[in-house]
Amino acid sequence: MSTSIPVTRPYAVNHADLLKWVDQIAAKTKPKEIVWCDGSQAEYDRLCKQMVQAGTLKRLNAAKRPNSYLAWSDPSDVARVEDRTFVCSARQEDAGPNNNWIAPAEMRSTLDGLFEGCMQGRTLYVVPFSMGPLGSPISQIGVELSDSPYVVVNMRMMTRMGKAVIDLLGQDGAFVPCVHTVGAPLAAGQEDVSWPCNATKYIVHFPETREIWSYGSGYGGNALLGKKCFALRIASTMGRREAMAGATGWLAEHMLILGVQAPWGKKYHVAAAFPSACGKTNFAMLIPPKGLDDNGWKITTIGDDIAWIKPDAQGRLRAINPEAGYFGVAPGTNEKTNYNCMASLRENVIFTNVALTDDGDVWWEGMTDTPPAHCMDWQGRDWTPEVAKSEGRKAAHPNARFTVAATQNPVIDSAWDDPAGVAIDAFIFGGRRSTTVPLVTEARNWQEGVYMAATMGSETTAAAAGQQGVVRRDPFAMLPFCGYNMADYFGHWLSLGDKLAASGAVLPKIYCVNWFRTDANGKFVWPGFGENARVLKWMLQRIEGQASGQEHVFGVSPSYADLDWSGLTFSAEQFETISAIDLSAWQQEFDLHEELFGRLANGLPPVLREIKTKLHQQLQDRLAA
Ligand code: GTP
Ligand code: SPV
Ligand code: MN
Repeated sequence: MSTSIPVTRPYAVNHADLLKWVDQIAAKTKPKEIVWCDGSQAEYDRLCKQMVQAGTLKRLNAAKRPNSYLAWSDPSDVARVEDRTFVCSARQEDAGPNNNWIAPAEMRSTLDGLFEGCMQGRTLYVVPFSMGPLGSPISQIGVELSDSPYVVVNMRMMTRMGKAVIDLLGQDGAFVPCVHTVGAPLAAGQEDVSWPCNATKYIVHFPETREIWSYGSGYGGNALLGKKCFALRIASTMGRREAMAGATGWLAEHMLILGVQAPWGKKYHVAAAFPSACGKTNFAMLIPPKGLDDNGWKITTIGDDIAWIKPDAQGRLRAINPEAGYFGVAPGTNEKTNYNCMASLRENVIFTNVALTDDGDVWWEGMTDTPPAHCMDWQGRDWTPEVAKSEGRKAAHPNARFTVAATQNPVIDSAWDDPAGVAIDAFIFGGRRSTTVPLVTEARNWQEGVYMAATMGSETTAAAAGQQGVVRRDPFAMLPFCGYNMADYFGHWLSLGDKLAASGAVLPKIYCVNWFRTDANGKFVWPGFGENARVLKWMLQRIEGQASGQEHVFGVSPSYADLDWSGLTFSAEQFETISAIDLSAWQQEFDLHEELFGRLANGLPPVLREIKTKLHQQLQDRLAA
C-alpha cells in the first residue's frame, strides 16, 4: 500500500527498521509523497522557494537581510502549549505531578485516530538529525517525520541534519522516532493556507520507548522535536535511567553554557538555567561593559538553551550543547542590549512572527529606539506607532523568534562543538521576579544550591501559551521540560553531587540570580545585559576565594562594596532596592516552597525538607529578633 506513495531518496538507506518505520507511518498518515532530506543547501533553498510560493515565507530584502525569510504563523499557534504536552510513562508516578499524564494505551488509541490520514495531500519529510556533534559518544540521533517544510528548514539550522546522520546510523544504529504533523490534511483540490495547523494539539512523549508524537502545531518547541521534546524531556529520562542502572548518569538541562576569559588569565565555564524568555540567549552572548577591568573580560558562547552534562573520569562535570543553532526571542533584542546577537542575524535567518517593514526588512519592539513610521504587523495588518498607542497592538508577537545557525555568532567559543564538552565551574539559576529575590546569592554547599534551584519561582512569559506575569514555582527552569517525576529529578541532582564529592572532585559552586526587580513605577532597577558581567566577576572571584560577601539566611550575597562598579553609575541606594531581603516577603516565599514540596511529596528527598526547616527556623529567629 505504501509502495504506491512516490518516494524521493537521494541516498542509500540500509537500516531495515528505519525503512519499515517510515513505511508504517506513511501507511497510516497517507501523504502524497515521501521525501528523504539530505541536509544540503540546495534542498534548503528549494524548500524556502517553495514556501515563498505557498505564502508561508516572505523573502526579505536581499540587500538588507541576505538569504533571509519571514514566517507569520496562525494567530492561534504562537508558543509552546504546556497544557497539551504529555509524558505517558507506564506508571503515572514516574511522570510525576509536574507532567500531564495519560495511560500509554489510551494515548496511543487517541493518537491512532488523530494520525489516520493526517498528512493527506502533503509531503512527508524524513529528517534525520543528531543532537550533539556527529559521531560523538555523547550525541544522540533522532529521525523526525514531518509534513511541515518549515520544520525541515528550521531543523537544518537547529541540529546536524541530513544524509551524514543516515550514514552514521548504518544498518542498525539507535534513533529516537519523532512523528510530527500540523494536523491539516488537504482534500483533492483543496487550497492550502500559509500556516496550516489544528485547534487540537497533542505533544506526546513515551519515555520508556523513547518516542515523540506531535499533532496540530507548527511552532517552535511543539514542532522542532529535537529541542525541548528530545533534548530535554526524553534526554532527562535517559540520563537518570543510566544512574538507576548503576552508572553515574547524566543531566539534560535548560541551560546556556558560556566561556569566560578572566583578566587574570584563567578561562572558566558557566552553565545557567533561566526559564523561557528570562535571559539565556542574552547572557550567553554578553559583552562585558567598558570600564570593567579595561575590557579584560571576554565571553564566548557554547550554547544558549540546552546543556547535556556528564562527569568525566576526574569527576568534573562537562557540558555540551546538543543544538547547532539558536531559536531565540526577537523582542527586546537590539545593538545595545545584545550586539552579538544582532550581528548573528545579519543574514541567513528565518524570522517568525516579527513585523515586516516597508523596505522588506524586519522590526520588533525594542529593536530600535524609534519605531518605523509604518510596517505590517505579525498578522499582516497595517501598523503605525499611533496604532500601538491607541490600540496597544504590538508589531511583533511577544514570542516572535529568529532561527539562525550557531556558527553565525561572532563570539562562538572555539570548543562549542568539542565532543568532550567544557568543564563547568559554576551553575547559575535565575528567575524573573519583580520583588523578593535579591540580585545574587551563593549557596553554601551543593545541597543548599539544589534547594535554591528546586524552589525557584519565576513570572510566566509569552514563551508558553497561557497567562503571563504570574509567579509560579519553576524548579531548575525545568518545570515544562523534565520528562519524569520532579522529586526524582531533585534526587538525581543530589545523588550526582554525593557521588562526585565522594570521589574527591570539587563540585561547581551554585548561584541564584534575579535581574528583574522593579521599582515603584514598574521599571527594572538593574541595568542587566552586559552589566550582568559584574555579577559574574563576583562569582568567579568567590571561586578563587578573592571576594567577600555577607552571609544571610539563604546564603551569601555581596554588599555594595563587594561588586566592581567601575564604569557604571549605580548608587548604594539603588543596589539596596535590588538586594534587600524583606523577611516578611520571604515568610510568604517559604509558604510557596512548602506548597511545592507538598505537591512533590511523593519521593521528595528528605534532605530538602531538612534544609527548608533549617532555613525557615533561621528566618523565624531573625523575624523575632
Ligand atoms: P528562551 O529562548 O525562551 O529559552 O529564552 P531565553 O532564556 O534565551 O531569554 P532571552 O535571552 O531571549 O531573553 C528574553 C527577554 O528578556 C528578551 O526580551 C530580553 O531582551 C530580555 N532580557 C534578557 N536579559 C535581560 C536582562 O539582563 N535584563 C532585562 N531587563 N531584560 C533582559
Ligand atoms: C523556550 O520556550 O524555552 C524556548 C522556545 O526555548 S521553544 O523552542 O519553543 O521551546
Ligand atoms: Mn528555552
